[in-house]
Amino acid sequence: MKRIVLRVVGLSLVLGLGLVVLAWPRAEFIPARSQEAWAATPANIARGAYLARAGDCLACHTARDGMPYAGGRALATPFGTLYAPNITPDATTGIGAWTADDFWHALHNGTAPDGRLLYPAFPYTNTTKVTRDDADALYAYLRSLAPVRLANRPHALRFPYDRQIVLAGWRLLYFKPGVYAPQPAQSAAWNRGAYLVEGLGHCAACHSPRNGLGATGTRLSGGQIATSGWYAPALDADNEAGLGNWEQSHIVQLLRTGVAPRGAVFGPMAEVVNRSLQYLTDADAGALAVYLKSLPAEPTPRHAIPAPDDVMKAGRQLYAHHCADCHGADGRGTSVAGHPAYPPLAGNGALTMRDPVNAIRIVLNGGFPPATRGNPRPFGMPPYSQQLDDAEVAAVVTYVRNSWGNAAPAVTAPEVNRWREVPLD
Ligand code: HEC
Ligand code: HEC
Ligand code: HEC
Repeated sequence: MKRIVLRVVGLSLVLGLGLVVLAWPRAEFIPARSQEAWAATPANIARGAYLARAGDCLACHTARDGMPYAGGRALATPFGTLYAPNITPDATTGIGAWTADDFWHALHNGTAPDGRLLYPAFPYTNTTKVTRDDADALYAYLRSLAPVRLANRPHALRFPYDRQIVLAGWRLLYFKPGVYAPQPAQSAAWNRGAYLVEGLGHCAACHSPRNGLGATGTRLSGGQIATSGWYAPALDADNEAGLGNWEQSHIVQLLRTGVAPRGAVFGPMAEVVNRSLQYLTDADAGALAVYLKSLPAEPTPRHAIPAPDDVMKAGRQLYAHHCADCHGADGRGTSVAGHPAYPPLAGNGALTMRDPVNAIRIVLNGGFPPATRGNPRPFGMPPYSQQLDDAEVAAVVTYVRNSWGNAAPAVTAPEVNRWREVPLD
């Protein structure tokens, strides 16, 4: 109820502001550029290709089994479905008629050349941080692709979210264009990491909480992915995915290969590593690690209620029977030929966060870390949804959340049941 009231109040505010913005004469700043900056030189194109991977542009702009960058992928949101547009250089259906300035405006200001305000499902609240040089390199790269003639599918948003006026108000409240400003007190690596995390990497799109109008915060304090239910953990809390006490080299390993001695990525994060982060250079992955390590750790709430003894006992037996072979009787995981194979569960933030959804889902559905150049044949985990009932999954998840020094609230059978039928993406 409170949420609905907030939404209505928020929406009225947005509508009011939208009216003001649309009535205001628009004069947008267009930085002058020389032709060379976005010239289709091999160096510019290669740089743009690298940046496109860092921004994971392909993921959203390609439909399943579709042509790369030709759009059509459906992005479900609580406000309706958006279809990512064709950004190949086709002159009529893609962005072939766009100038470098037009392209810059899309990334920096979230506007299209016909004056359309773009929806922030395109993470321009992040791409606004991108420098003009990087935007130009991306432009040069996209123009080097083969044009694909495929008309954009119109978005299917619910009223009133399909109105530009609502978007105009939303932008006034939640969007402030601005290229990343380096912090002089920090190292070059830290600034590069912050630039990538806040800009092209758009980590906040998942790792920040969203308000009722879909706006993310600036802190990477953890967010639920509204449509699939996965929880993208806080990157600034040690009982979640805070990396403050990780070794720098292990963070780089996690980002580039998907596995590390302290844990493995799974679910939507496995795709981010697979399509984007594995391609970062050592220097850029190192810069990300420096920045992520520096995020101030929020105090970890210790929960006071210990898990019930009978649940822990049942969980211990299930663990010994089903899980210990891979994760170890002591929860320390197993490596094969010196390479992380089965992640440790002791001290693993992926299972001690308050919200147990990710731990429940990996036990129900199993999973594979991504296949990456650094870890081409990952070891997998079997699904247990058929073998274990709700109470058993609840017991074993409660057990791993509260053993070997881990501490997190107990999980109940209904919490497990809730996730049985929810699609993974
Ligand atoms: C999370 C998904 C997502 C990612 C990642 C993403 N986009 Fe998009 N993009 C969209 C959606 C959705 C739209 C449509 C917005 C609208 O129509 O209002 C869009 C629109 C655009 C447009 C405007 C095209 C048009 O015809 O209006 C451009 C240009 C663009 N994106 C480029 C990029 C580039 C370059 C990257 C990588 C740096 C990127 N996008 C990453 C989802 C994404
Ligand atoms: C599409 C949504 C999405 C995006 C974008 C995303 N993440 Fe994640 N991330 C997740 C989810 C969901 C998890 C939980 C699964 C897991 O722990 O692997 C996660 C987990 C993580 C973890 C913990 C991994 C572990 O298991 O120890 C780290 C570190 C992380 N993300 C960093 C990042 C960084 C850095 C970025 C930006 C470059 C990013 N993520 C972008 C969804 C996302
Ligand atoms: C055949 C070996 C194997 C067995 C048996 C197994 N796991 Fe796993 N487990 C893995 C692998 C491999 C991963 C990494 C999966 C991924 O990244 O998608 C994993 C990941 C996890 C994670 C997420 C931690 C992280 O950092 O990725 C949890 C929690 C987990 N397992 C719990 C269990 C429980 C509880 C059982 C028993 C019911 C179990 N596992 C049985 C191999 C196994």
